[in-house]
Amino acid sequence: MIRINPNYPKLSSSYLFSEVSRRVGQFKGDHPEARVISMGVGDVTLPLSPSVVKAFRLAVEEMGDAQTFRGYPPDLGYDFLRTAIAENDFQARGADISPEEIAISDGAKSDTANIQELFAADIRIAIPDPVYPVYVDTNVMAGRTGQYHDGRYAGLIYLDCTEDNQFVPDPPKSRVDLIYLCFPNNPTGAAIDRTRLAAWVDYARAAKALILYDAAYVSFIRDDSLPHSIFEIPGAKECAIEFRSFSKTAGFTGTRCAYTVVPKTCMAWDAQGKGYSLHALWSRRQSTKLNGVSYPVQRAAAATFSQEGKKETRALSDYYLANARIVRSRMDALGFPCIGGDNSPYIWARVGGDSWSFFDRLLKKASVVITPGSGFGLCGEGYIRMSAFNTRELVEEAMERLALVSGELQAGD
Ligand code: MLT
Repeated sequence: MIRINPNYPKLSSSYLFSEVSRRVGQFKGDHPEARVISMGVGDVTLPLSPSVVKAFRLAVEEMGDAQTFRGYPPDLGYDFLRTAIAENDFQARGADISPEEIAISDGAKSDTANIQELFAADIRIAIPDPVYPVYVDTNVMAGRTGQYHDGRYAGLIYLDCTEDNQFVPDPPKSRVDLIYLCFPNNPTGAAIDRTRLAAWVDYARAAKALILYDAAYVSFIRDDSLPHSIFEIPGAKECAIEFRSFSKTAGFTGTRCAYTVVPKTCMAWDAQGKGYSLHALWSRRQSTKLNGVSYPVQRAAAATFSQEGKKETRALSDYYLANARIVRSRMDALGFPCIGGDNSPYIWARVGGDSWSFFDRLLKKASVVITPGSGFGLCGEGYIRMSAFNTRELVEEAMERLALVSGELQAGD
């Protein structure tokens, strides 16, 4: 008899964004005439920029020519892309990261999901709440939690992110081994400053813990005093791994390219206290389980670092940030207090009450899709996440529709 992984039935329900799609699909089936506007899943809408398309096309031509055809890509990525990343995303900001410390992959989602394989089953894990659900669900699948009860899994250490701490958690009093941080944050849009990030690095070094730092939304930072990388903080190279993606930066959600930085100085230990290089372990894992990312996609990603490419990709995040400003100011004016949207494409709005009920009512009354805050954790109850990834026209229209029904929504109808 084939038996299942006994941890899968512990998973609370369907993956958050699948549940959002399911409800939207059902609504569209019941109301085929409705023009649904999505401010739900963070999926980009602007096309790839001209420099990216040009590089992509040229690389496809190379693959179609016997002289320039290439087979398997290197497991951890082509040097041209790893070098461009090291120089532009790190060295240019004073973070001493070398190309060999960068591993190219198909997505930050899969890397943040897969990295937990490197760690022991009984480690103590700190998870912010609200949180991108992938961090939690993959640890559930791996058996690092107990059962789900009242919105939380037994065995995880939850870090409450609330209005009181500006949605940025501080290190816990208790000792933890693995810490997930995401800044600019998905879902709240909160950013972390140097002082508070340095407190985490100090904590991790003292505890011999590891920080998994998800910086997938870094291209939306406009306040230059904010750290763009955890490696701008002294000491972080001993205790942090960083995840980045071209998805939100350059419109690659459908093209797929990301990277993970595992510094060579970053260590983890076995039960006897023997140290292992996480760089070597991640390289071993990736070369066993991944055959790399296609050559044209890596050429397309590298084009974002050309002079033109930089201007074009900046224009993409500028566009979404302008949408975010509209959403935030309209929500504030309607009496829904918000954070985010200034260094992030996400706006986190306090709507009160049950957030799935708000989701259902907004969909029914205005055909507008948001993401319910409780889908990101217990502390998300009473909030919604609004994504600025859409056209200006549809964002404006969604906000007009929301304004028309906001009275009813606030009255709980
Ligand atoms: C989101 O909406 O949170 C993102 O699209 C999820 C992702 O990037 O996987």
